[in-house]
Amino acid sequence: MKVGVIMGGISSEREVSLATGKEMMAHLDKTKYEIIPIDIRRKQDLLKQAQGIDVALLALHGSFGEDGTIQGALETMGIPYTGCTLLSSALCMDKDLSKRLLRYEGLFTPEWTLLRSMDDLRNGRLSRFSYPMVVKPNAGGSSIGVTLVRNEEKLLEALQTAFVYGEEVLVEEYIEGEEITCSILNGEFLPVLSIKPGAEFFDYTSKYEPGGSDEQVAVLDDETAKRVREAAERSFSALKCSVYARVDMMLKNGIPYILEVNTLPGMTETSLLPRSARAAGYTFSALLDAIIEGSLA
Ligand code: DAL
Ligand code: MG
Repeated sequence: MKVGVIMGGISSEREVSLATGKEMMAHLDKTKYEIIPIDIRRKQDLLKQAQGIDVALLALHGSFGEDGTIQGALETMGIPYTGCTLLSSALCMDKDLSKRLLRYEGLFTPEWTLLRSMDDLRNGRLSRFSYPMVVKPNAGGSSIGVTLVRNEEKLLEALQTAFVYGEEVLVEEYIEGEEITCSILNGEFLPVLSIKPGAEFFDYTSKYEPGGSDEQVAVLDDETAKRVREAAERSFSALKCSVYARVDMMLKNGIPYILEVNTLPGMTETSLLPRSARAAGYTFSALLDAIIEGSLA
């Protein structure tokens, strides 16, 4: 089977995606698959290079990759791809839209508002928020452009930074709690991980520097564990996910607050999903087999 590993891309997460692709190529079972690396540097690269592959193993992150656009192009070309559908990818990439759906579903998610320009600040959109608050691009990943704002002096700079990465910025209440993540793979819950970032929050450096954070299988009482799995499953289903996704949450007083659902979670050496899969007994190769098989089923 010819597997095209689609990586790189043109989003701010290009470097992370290349690391994901490299890790995937190192672990794909060479006796089963013929590996075709496809580095997307410009949008048109996909059409030229994906011809003839049997399945696209998506190693992309962020816009033009994780947001449904590549999925749509592959659908048009008649090439099967791994992970969530076009619709689900687009929904999950838009944090504001996904939070609306999560809330409609009765799930907890931090209070938030969406800003479309700095002018929105003058309209009192943030008056109901108190510090600390989190400022992030509405459609970003890997914590790029994200700031934990503890006081008013830092707010303006944080907003300007976030607007560099997109036209919409999400301002969220900061939930002071335990950062946890729960991945779902082919209907199976992988062990919940607890994240202790080396920085104030789980920022880019703590995500990707080896030793930048400590991630362990979370020790949760039965009731909390049940609530976390239920929240993960309901988020996965509300956002119409399929095959696999990673649900990020803050746990406070036993309540999981959903931060977001990642449809193409990182698969780098330091990433969470492979670590969680390993704790469930999957080698990296077996994890890739499961993703490919689940996507082709
Ligand atoms: N956006 C990064 C790759 C993640 O969620 O792991
Ligand atoms: Mg993310």
